[in-house]
Amino acid sequence: MSARSTHSCTARAHSNIALIKYWGKRDDRLKLPAVGSISMTLDALYTDTRVSFFPGAEHDSVDIGGRKVDPAPFTAFLDRVRARAGIDYRARVESWNNFPTGAGLASSASGFAALALAASRAAGLEANPRALSILARQGSGSAARSIFGGLVEMHRGTRDDGQDAFAEPIANSADWPLEVIVAITERAPKTVNSSVGMSGLAERSDYYDAWVLHAEDDLAAMREAIGGRDFEALGALAEMSCLKLHGLMLSTRPGLLYWNPATVAAMQAVRALRSEGVPVYFTIDAGPQVKAICEPEHAATVEQALAAVPGVLDTRRSALGPAAYVLD
Ligand code: PMV
Repeated sequence: MSARSTHSCTARAHSNIALIKYWGKRDDRLKLPAVGSISMTLDALYTDTRVSFFPGAEHDSVDIGGRKVDPAPFTAFLDRVRARAGIDYRARVESWNNFPTGAGLASSASGFAALALAASRAAGLEANPRALSILARQGSGSAARSIFGGLVEMHRGTRDDGQDAFAEPIANSADWPLEVIVAITERAPKTVNSSVGMSGLAERSDYYDAWVLHAEDDLAAMREAIGGRDFEALGALAEMSCLKLHGLMLSTRPGLLYWNPATVAAMQAVRALRSEGVPVYFTIDAGPQVKAICEPEHAATVEQALAAVPGVLDTRRSALGPAAYVLD
């Protein structure tokens, strides 16, 4: 990272959903993932974050969607940026999501990716995408992927300093125009966030070793599906990885159950569509929302079917989104 001189920057980063899931850390402090992951960046869901460094200010302040939040977790993140830039100015951070926050729609992914880019530029750092991905990861593991657009792979890495745990793009929307229909079944934030849910898994789940053991095979199979533009293989692997993740969550002490009745109904609706010949597959993160993956010609049918599921409050249709970028 090289230094430039500026004090304020607004950046946009899009949310992403994992096709092959990440869950569990090999290092809690640096947020080093125990397994790699492959995701889709979503055009329709994004975070805009403005960071301004004020010489003389005493504290960091953070607003999300116009509401003040505890700055502590963000101060730790901003300290990394300040250390690199050689400044000690406090920051004002203002962030807006165009979707519900903390409800299983990956607001931490888009949020920390936008913060990484905006804070680095505001601090005068000319960070390259890999360095931004490594920085974003230290806010939230999945944020490393939201630095990039299209289909993205996150490497678990093996180094203790985390310098090889970054994401890289593997295909863009022109290569393969996939779509996602998000079925929103709950707008309130979830009660157990990802960091808490995935902490200390080696002691908390008897399934964890198997999860880690088979991760590389799942990633290799997904890379092959993407390389061959094999939608059925991509969808089947994504649905399998999702159900395997939720099996792991259910096996954790105390058990993590992120679904509600509408989540299950939406999963069944996706499988019913498939049995009628519509190629569509679901995935679900640490929350109750269902994301249905399909190719563009089936998106309208899938959206209509999910909107009709009892308990589905809203749907959002998304193409693959771009990499994170500066707005001003
Ligand atoms: O990045 P975190 O700590 O919010 O964890 C994300 C975990 C999942 O969304 C459930 C899976 C993933 O790979 O995004």
